Amino acid sequence: MMNKLGVIFDLDGVIVDTAKYHYLAWKTLADELDITFTETHNERLKGVSREKSLDILLELGRVTLSQAQRKLVLEQKNKDYLSFIAKMGPEEILPGVTPLLDLLDRLAIPYVLGSASKNAALILKQVNLFDRFKGIVDGNSVTKAKPDPEVFLLGAQLLHRSPYQCIVFEDAIAGIEAAHKAQMIAVGVGHKETLKAADYNVNHLTEITEGFFTALI
Ligand code: BG6
Ligand code: MG
Repeated sequence: MMNKLGVIFDLDGVIVDTAKYHYLAWKTLADELDITFTETHNERLKGVSREKSLDILLELGRVTLSQAQRKLVLEQKNKDYLSFIAKMGPEEILPGVTPLLDLLDRLAIPYVLGSASKNAALILKQVNLFDRFKGIVDGNSVTKAKPDPEVFLLGAQLLHRSPYQCIVFEDAIAGIEAAHKAQMIAVGVGHKETLKAADYNVNHLTEITEGFFTALI
């Protein structure tokens, strides 16, 4: 019965804490454009695509850019971000991730990635987790970003599961919303108050045990 389930993991904030690198790269751009940008503002960018993140940043500063300028700053932001990613290693995998993947392997529950990032494959390779996932759905494979359910519905296809058999692990409000629109079970990883729309909440993936999956069947 266990192997009728499937798991979809968000990447940033669930597998690795790359939010801090996104913040640093957006902060550099914000400083250049004279936009006040704090870690609190950065919360609004979590789970949101690169293009939409720029929209939010420019809106904060009431700055307008031409299409050509937008393209340039997006390239620069990603270049800055990738300079941090290049230094990442397996030590940056978040607590509980590796034991959870081991548990899923043991229970024969397949898992894929469902991320908004266009850098997802690269990041998984940096931390040596790329080969463990049955498949990857990322910012390059979707046309509509979270909270649209597309990313997770494609994930279910890779898993050969129906949406109701899928469990999504997410740290962003937009991700929980996307999981629910896809008719999936959403587990919020992080602040319970922020992710109160989730079906289950944990602070860290270390809290997920075999009993969690048995109870779902
Ligand atoms: C999401 C992050 O996973 O990916 C967002 O939570 C980020 O903060 C988005 O903007 C897109 O990432 P990337 O790597 O394509 O710029
Ligand atoms: Mg995330």
